[in-house]
Amino acid sequence: MKYTSLALAGIIIGGIAAILVLKFIMRCVEAKHAERARRREEEAVPVSPPASGTYSSVDVRVEMGSVDRFLDDILREKPARFTPENLREFTGDYAERLGAGGFGVVYRGRFPGGVQVAVKILHRTLDRRAEEQFMAEVATAGRTYHINLVRLYGFCFDATTKALVYEYLENGSLDRVLFDAAAAAALEFDTLHGIVVGTARGVRYLHEECQHRIIHYDIKPGNVLLAGDYAPKVADFGLAKLCSRDNTHLTMTGARGTPGYAAPELWLPLPVTHKCDVYSFGMLVFEILGRRRNLDTQRPAESQEWYPRWAWQRFDQGRFGEVMAASGIRSKDGEKAERMCKVALWCIQYQPEARPSMSSVVRMLEGEEQIARPVNPFAYMATMDAISSSSSGGGGVSTATSASASASGDSAQSTRHDICH
Ligand SMILES: Nc1ncnc2c1ncn2[C@@H]1O[C@H](COP(=O)(O)OP(=O)(O)OP(=O)(O)O)[C@@H](O)[C@H]1O
Ligand SMILES: [Mg+2]
Repeated sequence: MKYTSLALAGIIIGGIAAILVLKFIMRCVEAKHAERARRREEEAVPVSPPASGTYSSVDVRVEMGSVDRFLDDILREKPARFTPENLREFTGDYAERLGAGGFGVVYRGRFPGGVQVAVKILHRTLDRRAEEQFMAEVATAGRTYHINLVRLYGFCFDATTKALVYEYLENGSLDRVLFDAAAAAALEFDTLHGIVVGTARGVRYLHEECQHRIIHYDIKPGNVLLAGDYAPKVADFGLAKLCSRDNTHLTMTGARGTPGYAAPELWLPLPVTHKCDVYSFGMLVFEILGRRRNLDTQRPAESQEWYPRWAWQRFDQGRFGEVMAASGIRSKDGEKAERMCKVALWCIQYQPEARPSMSSVVRMLEGEEQIARPVNPFAYMATMDAISSSSSGGGGVSTATSASASASGDSAQSTRHDICH
């Protein structure tokens, strides 16, 4: 009897203890869930535009002295907000200028912890709509991560200073390497091929893998930055809308993009899709293949021909060896080089629908997808020339001329920059 009641008491006490332990575990799990949800919510809060031109104190502003806070933000992959004083400190009072482009001047800097940065001070005074876009772009670019995209660490939005703070890439932009004979000659073909594939992956991510498709509108060697090991990263993908390219990027024709890389639909009144980036990517591949600008007015007159068409003619006539010889490509790299040429020819097709998707481009470059024989991407020029000369009695502007004028990166680019400034 005594033993039975002892056993009963034991069972009851054991039961109560088990219930208490269970409850404790459930509390812990609930608390963990709540903490996770709170963190997720915090991370999902967009950097929202100001309601009345001012920002509340709960945004991600970085005051001097709260360095820990912004380093935390960076660690949590949230674009940080800097003050003009922060920027001055990072850049040592703007001591080292890295370069300048259509949007502003870029300076080298360093976070207090030692991480190197590139600070782009934007030229333009932004109106209210542009201000809102600036914030939207910060929210987009600040949350778009890919190994082949330049990382945006933060921004400054102040009455006097609008700036973007990016990760710093040791080898600068591809144009500086590619169009400098000595620097380009020092690069192995495999490195160049790696740059092509990495850039394609970056654009593929913008088009097909991030939450909202991002059209870059300005793929060109100046917007491909190179890390210390020449790994490429696409830059400025958040700026397409920010600077309202309709008005600023191209001038005389009212088109967008940069001449020489901009697809025909950007300079003709045709609908524009993400395939305009595929076209620009094709032009970039030609410049990598040729290790020269597609239209290079610095060259002797006899070799000034527009490179993409010159390469097409050689390819079409089965004389691809001449393309390889012209840029010193060795026969062991012939297969990869021909693949690059075929992909580029598909990318620059006049009809956007005829251009491949970027995922297909990546697969073709990597040899995982068969590449059909490209069709002539320049056939439209002959047709349009015939139309323009018959309607103007032979005095019309040649389409071939306007296409390669559009290809003339040098002169037209400086026009664009003048206007942007
Ligand atoms: N994150 C960076 N790391 C290292 N160098 C950079 C970085 N960003 C820009 N630069 C340097 O600054 C130069 C100017 O860049 P910027 O983006 O302003 O001009 P762009 O690319 O020539 O033209 P666009 O205005 O069309 O982008 C680049 O050519 C590059 O050399
Ligand atoms: Mg740029």
